[in-house]
Amino acid sequence: MEVVYRSAVYGFLEFILEKERISGESLGRKILDCGAGGQRPPIGLFSEYGFEAFGIDISDSQVVAAKEFCEGRGLSVKFSIGDMRRIPFDDGSFDLVYEFYSMVHLTKSDILKAIREMKRVVKKGGHLFFGFASRDTWPITGEEREKNEFWLFEHDDLEVVHSFFNDDEIDEYLEGLEIMRIDKVVRHDSWWWSRLSKEDWMNYYADNWTNHSREEWEKIYDRRSEQNYTHIFYICKKL
Ligand SMILES: C[S@@+](CC[C@H](N)C(=O)[O-])C[C@H]1O[C@@H](n2cnc3c(N)ncnc32)[C@H](O)[C@@H]1O
Repeated sequence: MEVVYRSAVYGFLEFILEKERISGESLGRKILDCGAGGQRPPIGLFSEYGFEAFGIDISDSQVVAAKEFCEGRGLSVKFSIGDMRRIPFDDGSFDLVYEFYSMVHLTKSDILKAIREMKRVVKKGGHLFFGFASRDTWPITGEEREKNEFWLFEHDDLEVVHSFFNDDEIDEYLEGLEIMRIDKVVRHDSWWWSRLSKEDWMNYYADNWTNHSREEWEKIYDRRSEQNYTHIFYICKKL
């Protein structure tokens, strides 16, 4: 079956190909995905388009799943275990570096480290793509331990953080970069949320910590179709 990747990743590919078409110059083809693992790895898209594709991920099992996906489709991607806070490549090794939905699982101080590392391994003039989860997302679940860092249990016993950003907070993370494009994407999965029974809504509360009391959670059931997940995606150029 043909694979469809997540839309934001096509946005980065489209930016690269369009910029090349307009300028007549190549942006390079050596690309690194940080947090590249899982069952539908976005780096597969770049491999399909002939890029020299690399991926690192901190989790063995995520790397195994991504390798299986690519091997099963004849896609050539060099995966390795690696931490995006200490990327195991030399300075300026890549033309293009990105992350998709992996930085959100770092604390804000680790996000700063990861962005510094992504900047380090991209060449001068190279392009980067990353996304920030927006504080406009609603509702946000989890225990807020530091400002806009929410911790909750996912997959039963794995505790993860989701870090959120106000629009005006992001610039300070982008030192040394020229901003080429910002996409703020508000996703309403209204069809799913509006069909949720009250019982399921309350079970959702039970499965997670929320930053609402049980009573508040029950009250906002009527607002469930306002649910949204908002992301701010940046494409930048290293100066
Ligand atoms: C939600 S998944 C997204 C995976 C993939 N980018 C995608 O879009 O399908 C987050 C990924 O980030 C990885 N990850 C979390 N912290 C990381 C770190 N410090 N360095 C590298 N990968 C990390 C996780 O192991 C996981 O595979």
